[in-house]
Amino acid sequence: MDKIVIEGGRPLRGKIKVSGSKNAALPILAATLLTKGKSEIRNLPGLADVHTMGKLLKDLGLKIQLWGSKMKVHANGYQRHIAAYELVKTMRASVLVLGPLVARLGKAKVSLPGGCAIGARPIQLHLKGLEAMGAKIKVEHGYVEAEAKRLHGATIHFDTVTVTGTENLMMAATLAEGTTVLENAAREPEITDLANFLNAMGAKVRGAGTSTITIEGVEQLQGGTYSVMPDRIEAGTFLIAACLPGSQVLLQGIPYEYVEALSLKLQDCGAKVEVKKDGIQLSAPKKLKPVDISTAPYPGFATDLQAQFMALMTVAEGTSVIRENIFENRFMHVGELIRMGAEIQLEGNSAVIRGVKALSGAPIMATDLRASASLVIAGLAAQGITEINRVYHIDRGYEKIEKKFRKLGARVKRVKVRY
Ligand code: EPU
Repeated sequence: MDKIVIEGGRPLRGKIKVSGSKNAALPILAATLLTKGKSEIRNLPGLADVHTMGKLLKDLGLKIQLWGSKMKVHANGYQRHIAAYELVKTMRASVLVLGPLVARLGKAKVSLPGGCAIGARPIQLHLKGLEAMGAKIKVEHGYVEAEAKRLHGATIHFDTVTVTGTENLMMAATLAEGTTVLENAAREPEITDLANFLNAMGAKVRGAGTSTITIEGVEQLQGGTYSVMPDRIEAGTFLIAACLPGSQVLLQGIPYEYVEALSLKLQDCGAKVEVKKDGIQLSAPKKLKPVDISTAPYPGFATDLQAQFMALMTVAEGTSVIRENIFENRFMHVGELIRMGAEIQLEGNSAVIRGVKALSGAPIMATDLRASASLVIAGLAAQGITEINRVYHIDRGYEKIEKKFRKLGARVKRVKVRY
């Protein structure tokens, strides 16, 4: 198992390129199950989760070739409809194969993903939607089974905005008979990226990026070549880190609109954000002001950036309040930040953070993906050495994080640990 060792207190300076988006890549790879023919998906981030999705597709009978940031997928004639527990338990996003499998093969049996460190994460809205489209659903022995000769169009209103729920039903609807309307759909850019991929393969999806998405079912989708959008959460993580004293970072390859909600908050903190020809440049504030945030579905402040923003607020000059509205247990980083000298009080779904002069480096433990990223930021801010254990969480969502931070001048290394 690896650990990441950080010597904090150095400003970040320089430029880096944003990798492909994990949360766009996963549904797009799952969507290849709908196609007949060969696809080539480009700009994939080199992440454990992308490999897991590749393994899952291979296990379902697709031919997969992965090299560098490209995956070739050949989805002709596969028959297997079972996504087994062994793979699904390592990655919740495996549930994204449910919609495509039932649409393409008429049946699917997918291990229930269960909860995770950040919350219970139910999928009843995915199932309710498939049922409205004519699927017979059975949940038994830890698996969900869905069956339908051919799904039919339906109008589906989501009670809660759900990202993978919207994606699952949007994918299923592309091969359904008739028209499906998804109301109160998620508006995340990753939804639009998936819709663009589906449309490039011959689907008829309109309205992605708004809360009403209309999908006219077609007989079949073909394969093709598609390049995944950049990762706005990775970009956001680096923008937050660039607020540490004396830093100036240019992020390349990310449109401003994807990080606007965050950028506005970072400007309130005193940072200077400039949209330049070759990227977004952030210059750290002289005095880091405390700012409150409240997480919300896109275009609001992303829950996936809440932990990282909190790490920054631990060294702000004053008190801030962070409210987490999406997941019920997404404060796992708080205990670790407190071990580094942060002053944080939890009150229900709110955290009150009283900024301290400095954090102090300590051995700490990564608990989930974004919490881990927040610990890296805390380590960069801290005086002395921070050792982050269980970094496999980070590797699920950040490509070469230590190399990218090193390129910006940080002292970060990965160390192999033998027990
Ligand atoms: N929800 C329900 N019922 C459902 C589905 C969702 O009650 O059937 C609730 C959830 O419990 C949660 C809220 O709806 O309270 C939103 O959950 P959502 O379904 O949108 O989350 P998700 O689709 O499982 C994706 C990302 C997450 C990200 C969330 C929110 C992927 C693969 N995952 O999860 O990413 O936090 O949307 O933006 O796209 C990460 O990358 O670290 C990560 C966790």
